[in-house]
Amino acid sequence: MNALSKDLTKLVKMIEKIESRSGEPDRFRPRFHLAPPAGWLNDPNGLCQYQGLYHAFFQYSPFDVEGGLKLWGHSTSRDMLHWEYQGAALYPDQPFDCHGVYSGCALTEDGRISFYYTGNVKLDGDFDYVTEGREANTILVESGDGFRFGRKQLLMTNEDYPEDVTKHVRDPKVWKGNGIYYMIQGARRKDDVGEALLFASSDRIHWLLKNRITTKEPFGFMWECPDYFEIDGKKILSASVQGLEGEKWKDKNVYQSGYFEVKGHVAEQCTLSEYVLWDYGFDYYAPQSFETEDGRRVQIGWMGMPDCPEHTNRTIEDGWQHCFTIPREIYVKDGRVLQRPVRELEERKRILAEATGGLYVEEEPVYEARIAEIKENQFHAVLGEELILEYRDSRFEMRFINPSKDNASGGRTLRYQEIETLNNVTILTDVSTCEVFVNDGEYVFSTRFYPENYGLQIQADEAKIKMWELVS
Ligand code: FRU
Repeated sequence: MNALSKDLTKLVKMIEKIESRSGEPDRFRPRFHLAPPAGWLNDPNGLCQYQGLYHAFFQYSPFDVEGGLKLWGHSTSRDMLHWEYQGAALYPDQPFDCHGVYSGCALTEDGRISFYYTGNVKLDGDFDYVTEGREANTILVESGDGFRFGRKQLLMTNEDYPEDVTKHVRDPKVWKGNGIYYMIQGARRKDDVGEALLFASSDRIHWLLKNRITTKEPFGFMWECPDYFEIDGKKILSASVQGLEGEKWKDKNVYQSGYFEVKGHVAEQCTLSEYVLWDYGFDYYAPQSFETEDGRRVQIGWMGMPDCPEHTNRTIEDGWQHCFTIPREIYVKDGRVLQRPVRELEERKRILAEATGGLYVEEEPVYEARIAEIKENQFHAVLGEELILEYRDSRFEMRFINPSKDNASGGRTLRYQEIETLNNVTILTDVSTCEVFVNDGEYVFSTRFYPENYGLQIQADEAKIKMWELVS
């Protein structure tokens, strides 16, 4: 540890102590969703299960609740639901990462974890910081236990990326297949087209560019946080895309997170399917996946949205901002890619109510409600008297009754998606998070919200309704 990281460690601890006493720090704090002790959180990083323990790192700005210099924060868990904060893990303490330890991943193998991330550097001067004035360095740091880290190794600089990409290249995700290591990174081309760069390596240190992956027609100007995995014969390329414009994207978030199905080999020749969103709600970005030791593909997203002045988070008053989604198992059924909360949540469920057609429950801040066997698309729910979930005009809607920055919505308005037939809905509420899984998780809607009360009202003629409280 160098002198700078030593002092930064002290500073972070001090600021966490002070900030976590401001406002009412636990008023909106979720029970099962990872949130920072103080300051700002964004992308999930370095997700892995190592020697039984789950590690989640996160983009962390402890010094500024509105986001600033990025470190990696670190939390661990035995069940992906109860998270224990372990302190800041990686600091911007080298010339090649001095303006931010940006997003990256973990590769677990042979008694060690290899972490790959982007070292962000912004040069002083009059630059546009897109084509000039910025460095995006690919860095490796290893750990034998997930808590102590070795020397940071600079693996690649902008010189190693294609000439026609801008300085925006970042967020390495690494995996191993058939004895070869692969790395995918997001990039913005100089002609403002987003793409993914695919590198390969035989020793996980020296990397060669193998492929550049993009769509036939330009699709956004930047792909952030790409991810790749295979599940049930499907090859999934996930990307968080900036710059989508036109009719299809109006009424949607400023940036999108979704996936393409890949035909062919990602490192050789391949084509991409249509882009499918992971989530249709207000707060979902930069998801990352990993494989659990029992072979599940689990994905966690940042339950937030960058560059979005329209809505806000009421926890800012309490000195912290943002959280992760509930970890979600990705699975395939009847050819459809579906999401469901990790099965560990089942053990937290205690039955509260069961009904047919309708239900009203008062004051329950942490629950799951399942509405199954929905007839003729009839479904209407009101959460905390402010948030409406409804099927109407052939679409599923998530909307706030009275959007305002000072109430439950924090200024959020309406999100919707056309859905032909509504079969079932699962609502997962954890104090200030709401995640709605429609048709077994074929469509998911996630939002933060800040209700004054936690009443839940459901109307769905003849449907079977069950509600559980979730206990710690
Ligand atoms: C996505 C992102 C990444 C970057 C990180 C910086 O939200 O912009 O591309 O590495 O956040 O915090």
